Amino acid sequence: MKNAMAGHTLALGIILFGAGAAQAATATRGGFGALADGTKVEAVTLSNGAGMSARIMTLGATLQSLIVPDRGGRKEDVVLGYDKAQDYLTRPNYFGVSVGRYANRIAKGKFALDGKTYTLATNDGPNSLHGGLKGFDKRMWKIESVSNGSEAKVVLSYVSADGEEGFPGEMKVTATYSLNEQNELKLEYRATTSKPTVLNLTNHAYFNLSGNDTRDVMGNLVTLNAERFTPVDATLIPTGERRAVAGTPFDFRKPAVVGARIRDTRDQQIRYGRGYDHNFIVDGAAGTLRPAARIEEPGSGRVLEMRVTAPGIQFYTGNFLDGTFFGKNNRAYRQGDAICLEPGTFPDAPNHPDFPSARLNLGQTYVNTMVYKFSTK
Ligand code: BGC
Repeated sequence: MKNAMAGHTLALGIILFGAGAAQAATATRGGFGALADGTKVEAVTLSNGAGMSARIMTLGATLQSLIVPDRGGRKEDVVLGYDKAQDYLTRPNYFGVSVGRYANRIAKGKFALDGKTYTLATNDGPNSLHGGLKGFDKRMWKIESVSNGSEAKVVLSYVSADGEEGFPGEMKVTATYSLNEQNELKLEYRATTSKPTVLNLTNHAYFNLSGNDTRDVMGNLVTLNAERFTPVDATLIPTGERRAVAGTPFDFRKPAVVGARIRDTRDQQIRYGRGYDHNFIVDGAAGTLRPAARIEEPGSGRVLEMRVTAPGIQFYTGNFLDGTFFGKNNRAYRQGDAICLEPGTFPDAPNHPDFPSARLNLGQTYVNTMVYKFSTK
């Protein structure tokens, strides 16, 4: 009887798998409410037959929710965010948004390009952060196309005017999200410019793989394929050094528990970051899609593996979340509630000629690709 049952389950499993493989991943358009000024926000939900779905909204080309099954098949949200679009503007924390023109910091809000100095708003102490006062995260993007098939896909676009937030050149940007049946969510940013400029586009998803933010991330096992990172000063601007992670709390070359060394204040870098808030130099050749990071959440069994084309990845443990922000389901988000993995060039690259270049010329196309693959253990 037992064997017969096992055989039955197996057969059913094969049928289900077969059905899943044949079933197309779907992209469904819908609304996501309106902003306080009445502007309607649209959303596209990408779903596959394996139980994953991603909701992307037009405000900020934001990954607003990401449903992933745990090891028991329970489908829960693994990214922080808000239930209402307006909250992304009034309580900005960059939850899941597309960041631009320049993700992370530019020292003192100044950089020079071809002999001219450009001045940006300083919105993070003495520095400029995440594109200034009204970066790409607070702009309305347009849905260019949605498609179904072996992958579900949405292409969003935004045109940034010449001089917007102090940056030169009119910039045309697209963000393409696609979800396949292998539980891979791929995100690709592309941009062109009307004159030489600088840029660093990334996504700022806050991952909490426990599902619906059940537990903090301190027990997560993290791997970062990086032999070196870029140390920062007290205002989180890179000093220019590329420091070996070996022998420091920044060594995640083998899976390590996030909380194990996050309070190791003997390391000045931990003190400056209030934990982890650093750019890691991803091993291997930038421009090729290669493994960069892995998170394993032991409680749910969820695993996220990330491949990137970017030269660096910012590893940030939600150190500035202070419990005053209530997110989805009215949950207070607190320090250590999430992990951000933001692939891009290095922070403040426009002021560091020896960092991978942030420059984009007329006629060139900028591409930054990242793949988030989910599985369970
Ligand atoms: C930065 C943090 C910053 C956060 C804002 C991260 O990319 O590295 O320092 O507080 O974004 O959400």
